[in-house]
Order: sequence, then C-alpha cells, then structure tokens
Amino acid sequence: MIPFSAKTAAYRTKMKVLKTTAKILPFPKPTLFSGPGSSLELCEAIAQVGTSRLLIVTDAMLVKIGLLDGIQGKLAELGVDFFIYDGVQPDPTVAQIEAGLEMLKMNGCEAVLAFGGGSSIDAGKVIAARATNDKPVRKMEGLFRIFHAPLPLYAIPTTAGTGSEVTVAAVVSDPERQSKAALMDPKLVPAMAALDGSLMTGLPPAITAATGMDALTHAVEAYLSVNALPDTDSYALAATGLIMKYLPVVMEDGQNLEARQHMAMASYYAAVAFTRAGVGYVHAIAHNFGAYYHTPHGRANAIVMPYVLDYSKPECIGRLARLAEASGLAQEADTEAVLADKFIAHIRSLNERFGIPQKLDDLRAEDIPAIARAALKEAHSTYAVPRYMDRPTCEALIRQIMV
Ligand SMILES: NC(=O)c1ccc[n+]([C@@H]2O[C@H](COP(=O)([O-])OP(=O)(O)OC[C@H]3O[C@@H](n4cnc5c(N)ncnc54)[C@H](O)[C@@H]3O)[C@@H](O)[C@H]2O)c1
Ligand SMILES: [Fe+2]
Repeated sequence: MIPFSAKTAAYRTKMKVLKTTAKILPFPKPTLFSGPGSSLELCEAIAQVGTSRLLIVTDAMLVKIGLLDGIQGKLAELGVDFFIYDGVQPDPTVAQIEAGLEMLKMNGCEAVLAFGGGSSIDAGKVIAARATNDKPVRKMEGLFRIFHAPLPLYAIPTTAGTGSEVTVAAVVSDPERQSKAALMDPKLVPAMAALDGSLMTGLPPAITAATGMDALTHAVEAYLSVNALPDTDSYALAATGLIMKYLPVVMEDGQNLEARQHMAMASYYAAVAFTRAGVGYVHAIAHNFGAYYHTPHGRANAIVMPYVLDYSKPECIGRLARLAEASGLAQEADTEAVLADKFIAHIRSLNERFGIPQKLDDLRAEDIPAIARAALKEAHSTYAVPRYMDRPTCEALIRQIMV
C-alpha cells in the first residue's frame, strides 16, 4: 500500500501544476452591469449585440413570484424574441438540462440568458455548451472537457451565493449515480452578467443565510488554498469583510437594498477568488451531502465549514488570523492562534444566529464511507487544500457531523 505521505507529495505536485496553469491561463470575466435595475441594462446590451432569439433558463418558482416580469417586459419592448425554459430545480440534473436543450433547438435560439440562483445559471451554462458540443454531459465533467465555444451566454443571479455568473464551473447532479459533479472550463464564463440587488430583496431568510454562507465558504477556501495568488487573496479578503458586515444586515432586514447590493458584489468577489484558487474539503463534503440528501448547497457548506477549519488549522493559522482581521474580529493583543480560533468560533456563532444547525439530521452512518471516498476523490483531483486528510480521518470528521 502507498503510504499517505507519498500520496500527499503526489497531490502537492499535481496542485503545483494546476497553480502554474491558473497563473498562465486567462480567466475571463463577464462584462458586468451592477446596481439596482442593472438587469434591464443587460437586456439592452443583449439586444444591442443583435440577439434575436433567446432562451431564458430559470426555475418555475421565480416565474411564479413574478421576478422575471421586468425582464420579459424589457425584452419584448426591445424586440428580442424569447422562450422560457423554467424546468430547473435546485441541484439541476442532466435530464433537466436535456429538456432545456430540446426547447432551445425547437425554437432555434441563438443565445442563453440564465436567470436565477446557481442552479439556473449552471443549467444555462451547460445547455449553452450542449448546444454546440455533441457529447453527453457526463463526458464534459472535469477540467477543460468542453471543446467548442458554447452559445453566447448571459447571467442574472437572483441569489448572492454561488457567484456562478463569473466562475468557470457548472455543477450537475446525477440522481442515478448519487453524484454531483462539476464541469470546469473557462469557456463556461458568461459573456455578460448583471448584479441587480433589487431582485434579491424578496429572498426568504433561510435561502439568504444558506447562499450567503456559500459565498463566505468560497472566500475562505480560496484564501486558505495553497494555490492562492495575490489577486485572489485581495478578492477573498474583500468578500469576507463585506459578507461579515452585510449578511447579518440582510438577515435582519431583507428589504435593505444597499446591503443586498453589497452581498451581490461580495458573492461575485468570492467567486473571482475561488474560480482561480479553487475550493477545498468543505465543498467536497458538502457536494456529497447535496448528492445524498439534497441538502441545500450553502447550508451544507455552512454546517461542514467549522469542522474542516478545525482540522486544517495547524497548517494555516496565519491565514485564518488574516480572515479574522478582515472580519473585524481582531484586538490588539490577540496572537495569531487566538485570532484563528476567534474566526472559527465566529462562523459557529453566525450559523447559530441564522438557524443553521451544527449537525446534519439526514446523515446516516452507513453512507459515511462512500461519502468520504467521493469527497476525497473530488478534493484530491483539483483542490489545493492546506492540510490533506486520508480516508479514516475524513470518515471520522464526517462522523462528528452526525446527530
Ligand atoms: N457554478 C458554480 O461556480 C457554483 C458554485 C457554488 C455552487 N453552485 C451550485 O449552485 C446550486 C445552488 O445555487 P443557489 O444556492 O443559488 O440556489 P438555487 O439556485 O438552487 O435556488 C434555491 C432556491 O431559491 C429560490 N430563489 C432563488 N432566487 C430567489 C429570489 N430572488 N427570491 C426568492 N426565491 C429565490 C429558488 O427558486 C430555489 O427554490 C447548487 O447546485 C450548487 O452546487 C455552483
Ligand atoms: Fe459553493
């Protein structure tokens, strides 16, 4: 059997190659419209670039609550023919993507506007990629497996969480395989996006909390990544500061437009950081909670984060201390060790304040070996984590999350 120290050395070498690639590769960013009402400016830009037939990819709930009304009115006024695919559900599946693709083809659409949370944006990304690549979604999972450029893609996030509007990733669930896998390719970054806080004022508190904690996890894992770069550090720290300040505000007063707009920007910054520096074990484990129990992505991250930070701490005390400073937790006499502990304790207290439990009710002992195996497979293929763990350690960590 290969000793774990040798495996760790091999992972480190692989991550160094990834870091060099991330340094060299251009990571495109969308042309960004920002501020209340910016989603309508994006519609104007979509018309200006000559789009005549557009597929809007969204979820039925958003159509039902009328969130899409302004955009439909604007596109009609601009003379853009549009078709609405509203079959996306949280954690979109291959079947939902194929149904959207069918609608796109039937109506001869030439571009995709993804409108909604990360689920709608990810589904929109993959539909746009499937339209130009004749291979099943499964074969596009992993790094750089999209050959042809997708159809022109535009994104309007309605949650401040995933930052999918700027990332190279799209996450797709496959209920048959009980898996949740990411497609990662710079071609998946939308051409244009709008951060419009006015679409977020009606987000219910539970979704606000979960999505906000997802954005925080992106910032934290990107900052702790050994593949972090000076610019990803700046974005990650800025996002952390904004989230620590404004997430409690929007949890108290969801209608606070200024705070919603700051959260939209924070989520974008956090995603700029993680799309290059990567995430870590929190996401790897949380993705599997999503695949097994359908735990909302951000809620799963929020639950797992303190456990993984406790484990990682010996290898990243200084960086945890910087995160504590960015969160406004530092006092003059605090040592780095004290600050690191304060940061982890603060995440636990935010969870408590937002009604996010310390443990996952649904987690079953018999699933833990398979969850740990899948999480480690995901993490060790692309995440540059500060402290590696082997299978027994991962299983023990997950067992702590059981009620
Ligand atoms: N592509 C990436 O880089 C990336 C990063 C992180 C997570 N993800 C993926 O994104 C998905 C999660 O996305 P999410 O957390 O944004 O949630 P979501 O898109 O799954 O939406 C969650 C719920 O919120 C509702 N909702 C969304 N906006 C609303 C609004 N403004 N008002 C009222 N209700 C609203 C939706 O109808 C839905 O019921 C997961 O599949 C996750 O794995 C992707
Ligand atoms: Fe995430």
